[in-house]
Amino acid sequence: MSKLIITDHPLIQHKITLMRKTDTSSMQFRQLATEVATLMGYEVTRTLQTREIEVETPMEKTTGVEISGKKVVLVPILRAGLGMVDGFSQLMPGARVGHIGLYRDPETLKPVEYYCKMPGELKNRQVILLDPMLATGGSLTDAATLLKERGADHIQAVCLIGAPEGVEAFQKAHPDIDLYLGHLDRQLNDHGYILPGLGDAGDRLFGTK
Ligand code: URA
Repeated sequence: MSKLIITDHPLIQHKITLMRKTDTSSMQFRQLATEVATLMGYEVTRTLQTREIEVETPMEKTTGVEISGKKVVLVPILRAGLGMVDGFSQLMPGARVGHIGLYRDPETLKPVEYYCKMPGELKNRQVILLDPMLATGGSLTDAATLLKERGADHIQAVCLIGAPEGVEAFQKAHPDIDLYLGHLDRQLNDHGYILPGLGDAGDRLFGTK
C-alpha cells in the first residue's frame, strides 16, 4: 500500500491557513502556494538517493554527499498544478518540467489528454506529480495512469490539500505511489469542492472566475 504522508510542519499549516482566507489576494495566494510547495518539497525529496563523493576543501580532502540515482521531473497537472512548480524548482533548479492537461470524456468517462509534453524516457526518472487540490481524485488518478502508460515507474504525488474521498480513490487506483498532502480536509461538497478547502485553486492562483 502506498504511504500517505501529511507534511504538517507549523509553517505549512500557517501558510495553508492564509491561503484559505477569502480575502487573500491572487498575488499573495501564488506566493503562498510557492512557499508551501517548497516546504513540502523538503519532505518529498527526503527519499532521493545519494552517494558519497570525495571533495577537497581549502583545508583537506573529505567525503561529501551528492544526489545520485534517477533525475527528477516535475509534472504539474494543468492548470492549478503550475502554482506548485516554482516552489519545487527552487529546491531543484535542474529538474525538468513536463506538463499534462486532461479531462474526462463525459460519455466514456475515460481520461483524454489535451496536452502532454514530457522529457524523454520517463522510465529513468523520478516523477513528482503536482496538483494542489485532491478532491474526487479523478485528475490525479488519471494523470498517474497516463504517466505510467508513458513508462514512468517511480512517481510521487503531491497535493496541498486533500479530501478523504480523493485519498481513498487515489490509493486504491495507485497503491504503488506515495501521496504527500499539506493538509487532510474534512470532506467534499455535492459539487466536488473540498470543505473547508480554499475554493477553486486555479481561479485563485490566476485571478480568474
Ligand atoms: N479543485 C479546486 O480547485 N478546489 C476544490 O475544492 C476541488 C477541486
